[in-house]
Amino acid sequence: MALMTWSEKYSVGVRALDEQHTGLIQTLNDLHTAMLKGQGQSLTAPMLRKLVEYTQKHFAAEESMLASTRYPGLAGHRDKHRELSKQVEDYVARFEKGEITLNLSLMDFLRDWLINHIQKTDKEYGPWLNEHGVR
Ligand SMILES: [Fe+2]
Ligand SMILES: [Fe+2]
Repeated sequence: MALMTWSEKYSVGVRALDEQHTGLIQTLNDLHTAMLKGQGQSLTAPMLRKLVEYTQKHFAAEESMLASTRYPGLAGHRDKHRELSKQVEDYVARFEKGEITLNLSLMDFLRDWLINHIQKTDKEYGPWLNEHGVR
């Protein structure tokens, strides 16, 4: 059972960003599946890395679209991205040092963050980007 599935209700109205969100969800699901199977750190560490890199690329892509259209909420949006990035980086550092293992509460935290962020913060920019010719 997937941790989360993308559906139309998560659409932000911009195809490239919907695709990136779908990719993020897929990457998170892969990590969740590996965790449930009890896969070792040699397999899960690169998956966690991939999730972090994918997230960073996505945040950068989103912020650059918002910057190029002079989106008024850019600063606040960027702060939310930074906050999550920092939390995840701290977690990954501890994970890589062997201080903590992958666990369901991390998966739940990431899923909840993603659902919340897409449905509130990301959806807010949809109409703005559409009005500025980004679809
Ligand atoms: Fe965002
Ligand atoms: Fe996003």
